Amino acid sequence: MTKKWWQDKVVYQIYPRSFQDSNGDGIGDLRGIISKLDYLQDLGIDAIWLSPVCRSPQDDNGYDISDYQDIDPMFGTLEDMEELIQKAKERNIQIILDLVLNHSSDEHRWFQEAKKSKDNPYHDYYVWRDGVEGVLPNDMKACFGGPAWEWVPELQQYYFHQFSVKQPDLNWENPKVRREIYDMILWWMEKGVGGFRLDVIDQIAKEPDKGITGNGPRLHEFIRELSKETFQKGNLITVGETWGATPERAKLYSNPDGSEFSMVFQFEHVGLDQEEGKEKWDLRPLPFVELKKNLAKWQKELYGCGWNSLFWNNHDLPRIVSRWGNDKEYRAKSAKMLAAVLHGMQGTPYIYQGEELGMTNVVFQDISHYRDIETRNMYKERMEKGYDEKEIMRSIYAKSRDNARTPMQWNEKENAGFTTGTPWIEVNPNYTEINAEKEQKNPDSVYHFYKKLIRLRKENSIFTEGNFELLMENDEQIFAYTRTTEKEKMCVIANFTDQTASCPLLQKWSEKEKLVHNYETEPEEGILRPYETMIYIDR
Ligand code: NOJ
Repeated sequence: MTKKWWQDKVVYQIYPRSFQDSNGDGIGDLRGIISKLDYLQDLGIDAIWLSPVCRSPQDDNGYDISDYQDIDPMFGTLEDMEELIQKAKERNIQIILDLVLNHSSDEHRWFQEAKKSKDNPYHDYYVWRDGVEGVLPNDMKACFGGPAWEWVPELQQYYFHQFSVKQPDLNWENPKVRREIYDMILWWMEKGVGGFRLDVIDQIAKEPDKGITGNGPRLHEFIRELSKETFQKGNLITVGETWGATPERAKLYSNPDGSEFSMVFQFEHVGLDQEEGKEKWDLRPLPFVELKKNLAKWQKELYGCGWNSLFWNNHDLPRIVSRWGNDKEYRAKSAKMLAAVLHGMQGTPYIYQGEELGMTNVVFQDISHYRDIETRNMYKERMEKGYDEKEIMRSIYAKSRDNARTPMQWNEKENAGFTTGTPWIEVNPNYTEINAEKEQKNPDSVYHFYKKLIRLRKENSIFTEGNFELLMENDEQIFAYTRTTEKEKMCVIANFTDQTASCPLLQKWSEKEKLVHNYETEPEEGILRPYETMIYIDR
């Protein structure tokens, strides 16, 4: 497989409302991001995936867009966006826009027109079914709770929504909708964006009458057309969000011929700590051996014929150090271990804001402090069903999306330096301990560990090219693998637990060149200390 220009790049995700506020309204904005570009350049990343900043009523924090070609005033103006693209480019950083194409906001002009009458030219932009009030077309559920159908009395019709009622699904069967979308994307490409992240893209080809949401029959046909009409006219990084991806599908999505996307996010590993067949709130301990085998499977399957995205975090997921690391005694050690395991694999690493500081989950006392629509709806639904409140809060502490959305912790000043106003969501009280200023000053910090991993990827092509082999696959504590090219071999070793672990691999590898290590001294007699990790290379 010939190497693509983006394959050794590292992407940093910004959730704009929580990154940096520049005007004191408590909400992060584009000028705030511009003011932090030097920080990102210092970290060494190549691209920023920006969660949505387009005009939106913010029912789902911007994933409900009412104008795809304008910036929401809370984030700034189109000129600010142009400046961000420009200033980032000057630092060799590309901006990856978040495209929400499965649905729009109900406040989008198209939907406002669509619900005026059945013969309005925009009516078919959405998915409607005739019906009778109170008798739903079927029992499909929306992802944020409640039915997937909403009644519009004026039309005597239901519209379909996979997410909130304020996020009506767009009708991809309608070629006019597709054309509008392509033109909008081309407009952004002309503005110089470096790529796109495609929100729930595997749900666009839905067939609600058959109960199909993800992986609809026309999915790849739609994606190929989208790619041909837009992305292929530029030289972009594109990544689809695909909760239903299998390796087979991922090979199509990330086909090296460029017919679909550069790569996709697949989520199999992210579902491992929930009870099978249940919801993400239904917790079970992480089956560690399964995690290793799962990640190894994706490494193997896509080798030479596709491309993986590597991520532990995003704006929908809890903080990894709290989830699968240890956010108490071994916070920094385990954050580094998780980073080494992820960045050592083949694919494109994504760092979610604050991950490079080892930011943790948050515990708010009660539900009134939570802002996320999914969390709030679940709380209400489960309270009504009679669940124990403590149990609900336990799920929220473990899995709420707000864990990722508390403001970025810049320094130990008020509100972690995020805003001079009242933040839209409270800052995690641990910001006096965990913040960027402190991390940057300390050469042994999580920040500097990430910085080094990013640099190593640039300096050593084995990170991009090496073939993956899982070692000690049934070991209950150690995650170890090699990466091999014709000339070199690299070994990543990690103790995933807070106990010591005997590791026979050390005998051979400790003689080799060590690229990273999260302890200052050498391990004794082949024993790894809690969360100890190292990457060796044999050149
Ligand atoms: C996936 C996004 O990541 C999430 O934040 C959003 O709520 C849904 N898609 C709906 O757009």
